[in-house]
Amino acid sequence: MRLMKTSSYSGFYKLSPKQRLMEVAEFANLEKNEIDTLKKEGALGIDVADRMIENAISSLSIPLGVGLHFLINGKDYVIPMATEEPSVIAASSNMARVCRKKGGFFACNTGPIMIAQIQVINVPDVYAARIRLFESRETLIKIANKQDPLLVSLGGGMKDLDVNLVPSSQGTMLVLHIMVNTKDAMGANTVNTMAEALAPHVEKITGGKVYLRILSNLADKRLVRVRTVADKEALGGEDVVDGIISAYEFAAADPYRAATHNKGVMNGISSVVLATGNDTRAVEAGAHAYAARNGRYTSLTHWEKNADGDLAGTIEIPMPVGLVGGATKVHPIAKLAVKILKVKSALELGEVIGAVGLAQNLGAMRALATEGIQRGHMSLHSRNIAVMAGASPDMVDKIVEIMIAEGKVRMDRAKEIIEELKNKKS
Ligand code: MEV
Repeated sequence: MRLMKTSSYSGFYKLSPKQRLMEVAEFANLEKNEIDTLKKEGALGIDVADRMIENAISSLSIPLGVGLHFLINGKDYVIPMATEEPSVIAASSNMARVCRKKGGFFACNTGPIMIAQIQVINVPDVYAARIRLFESRETLIKIANKQDPLLVSLGGGMKDLDVNLVPSSQGTMLVLHIMVNTKDAMGANTVNTMAEALAPHVEKITGGKVYLRILSNLADKRLVRVRTVADKEALGGEDVVDGIISAYEFAAADPYRAATHNKGVMNGISSVVLATGNDTRAVEAGAHAYAARNGRYTSLTHWEKNADGDLAGTIEIPMPVGLVGGATKVHPIAKLAVKILKVKSALELGEVIGAVGLAQNLGAMRALATEGIQRGHMSLHSRNIAVMAGASPDMVDKIVEIMIAEGKVRMDRAKEIIEELKNKKS
């Protein structure tokens, strides 16, 4: 042990996870019981964690629940959702039950096409260079596809290109987009490898200098589209439908509200993305960029009344998720999440995730347009408070009941009730 006194510690990565933990414990003055907590391994062993990331010292468990009642394209799904937030799973499951009455969710997709960008600067004749790139389409596709013969043998690979001229303070940049069918992979590694391999050829063709070669998270060629109908009676009647439409119109018109509205959508989406070991940040970046694609940030969902007066909802959203590669194939819980989902392809997984986002959004809007969200939040939150206050398992329900009835969901009140209950017993 070197006794870590500052964060400037070279060679930290060369230590074993246990040694790293001891160094961090030294730095942060951790107690023995705290070190023991960090040492505890769950389903994800520290050896696997150590292979997944750098400087691993432990792993973080997040509750994994299942969303129920989801009928998507006529198929029944039990949907693993990893989230730390109360009410998320209950809300989407309740709304999936409401939507099931009218056939559930209907989903389709654009195919798994990822975009990578190659940035070219200092091109003397940008317009002509742009056309020269289009002329070289077949050659560039061939070079890109040499990077991943397996993907090509499965029907994937680079399929097309596009070239944008992007004005900037450094002059007009020429930006080559390559479109790659990544099949069941999220595809970041594949498209980045292809973009890097193409760079010298692109320099030759354009006469410019290539800098960035990286995928775009605005994955607008990899969309899922989902629609559903929520029965007006099951939602609580016409007034509730009107309230929800007014909540939606608010989000459609106002970016401040749209950000929160879409956060609710992502509560559902990110929890399934995380549970299946996919990249939550990629999906979130794509979602928010797509929500602003017309120059003003707006709602990712649309809600309207259909001819019967029921509530019809749709979502269209980039969905860069995979089943092969990355944590999905390495993390033991993620592997099981995929098994529970019974999905056969990344596209099917994406459609399921889109449906959860739509249901989640409906659940949030229904709560907001009726009783507000705090009641639902508070009942779960109060359980946490009761446990943190030291309640034994047989006391938790009673404490929750009293705190909610009094409208005082607080640690100090939970502690008082525990004492009262103990005194009553003795
Ligand atoms: C909370 O995590 C999500 C909501 O704020 C979403 C919304 O306002 O639509 C309830």
